[in-house]
Amino acid sequence: MTDMTAPKALVAGNWKMNGLKAASAEISKLNDLVNENGAKCDVLICPPYTLIGTLADLGAENVAIGAQDCHMNISGAHTGDISAEMIREFGCEHIIVGHSERRADHGESNETVKAKASAAQATGATAIICVGETIDEREAGDAVSVVTSQVKASIPDDATADNTTIAYEPVWAIGTGKVPTAGDVEEIHAEIRAVLETRFGADGAKIRILYGGSVKASNANELMSVPNVNGALVGGASLKADDFYGIISAYDEIG
Ligand code: PGA
Repeated sequence: MTDMTAPKALVAGNWKMNGLKAASAEISKLNDLVNENGAKCDVLICPPYTLIGTLADLGAENVAIGAQDCHMNISGAHTGDISAEMIREFGCEHIIVGHSERRADHGESNETVKAKASAAQATGATAIICVGETIDEREAGDAVSVVTSQVKASIPDDATADNTTIAYEPVWAIGTGKVPTAGDVEEIHAEIRAVLETRFGADGAKIRILYGGSVKASNANELMSVPNVNGALVGGASLKADDFYGIISAYDEIG
């Protein structure tokens, strides 16, 4: 049943460190699939930086292009880094920050993630702020406290429904084929929603909260139907247009 007060869903693909120029064929195909069959959600692909220009130049009207990370500064002596301003030049409106792979591989703290989210927001982009517990934290019964403290510490004070999206991604579900039960997802998303409403009032009710971690066409309907799940952040199943469209089309039944 459609919740008329819920924000419009977003199904976002995170290509991670995958994709060469030939992958633009998947964006063209995805654009055609949405064009022919429709989509009841917004559709976003975040490729590696090297493909942003190529994919943005395709002008695929049904597939927005975003980025997977940005630096906390707008410019300067930061070899190998990319700023939000550089990303915005290609028309990207969404920038993922704080993905668990960046928190793990690059030692990014909540403070760093917050600074990156602020940098993205300062350029007019929406920051997709990722949070999620490890398997040890879940087994210790700490999932709720870990995730809510990450949300509190990673989200800038001037967050709004327009400039902020949260992605709950249990670390143990990413790329593993394991997914939490619908009940566990419902619990965490309700806790995140409560944090957002307490801090941001009515706007907190409208901030999208995505679920991520082994989402595929076969489980999308169940996961996306959970209360306070306003879309998906998808890794592996976003690389091929047919797989990704299978997730997008779950919204045909959800409404
Ligand atoms: P996965 O990745 O869909 O391959 O599990 C999700 C993510 O890391 O965003």
